[in-house]
Amino acid sequence: MTDRFRIRRLGVADAEAFRAMRLEALAAHPEAFGSSVAEEAAQPAGVFTARIADGAVFGGWLDGAEEMAGIMALAVPQAEKQRHKGLLWGVYLRPAARGSGLAPALLRAVLVHARQHVEEVRLSVTRGNAAARALYRRAGFADWALETRALKIGATYHDEHLMVLRF
Ligand SMILES: CC(C)(COP(=O)(O)OP(=O)(O)OC[C@H]1O[C@@H](n2cnc3c(N)ncnc32)[C@H](O)[C@@H]1OP(=O)(O)O)[C@@H](O)C(=O)NCCC(=O)NCCS
Repeated sequence: MTDRFRIRRLGVADAEAFRAMRLEALAAHPEAFGSSVAEEAAQPAGVFTARIADGAVFGGWLDGAEEMAGIMALAVPQAEKQRHKGLLWGVYLRPAARGSGLAPALLRAVLVHARQHVEEVRLSVTRGNAAARALYRRAGFADWALETRALKIGATYHDEHLMVLRF
């Protein structure tokens, strides 16, 4: 199954492709992410390089394809009292790759990495995002809270399910 995809941790040489994917994700799914496309489009390229260099960003490719098809990342706080918990962020698959199995494969790769660094992984997912919720549930994530009015886009509020996977 894994030979249908190539999955690897991104390096700084991937920063431009990562930036393009990230901006595409924020533009296409504003309600799914905490940052806005306007905010991140205004950030210098170095910010994206630093996210790769300082964190763990994984990319996935459909077999034989040159263009990256999906991204997922894990952030680990530096603070001594918080570094037992990782944060899954930046989950995005290009539409053509959805339903291919790349999403669970990328998530498995991030979790293999996470197990070596943290005791649990947390994430937030907007209420109503059924595909993402099913992906996380299947990987073992469980709800621990609902943050009402977590995001405000224009005049519309969105609630977020807070989920956790304890190792
Ligand atoms: C979230 C995302 C990465 C999932 O990738 P995907 O390839 O679509 O996911 P899968 O095909 O593995 O589907 C995951 C599950 O959701 C189900 N699903 C897919 N689309 C669905 C939909 N529109 N409604 C309900 N369920 C859906 C699948 O059947 C599957 O369920 P299963 O594991 O029980 O079989 C992808 O949809 C995406 O990039 N979405 C836009 C950005 C986003 O929402 N990111 C998440 C932020 S928290």
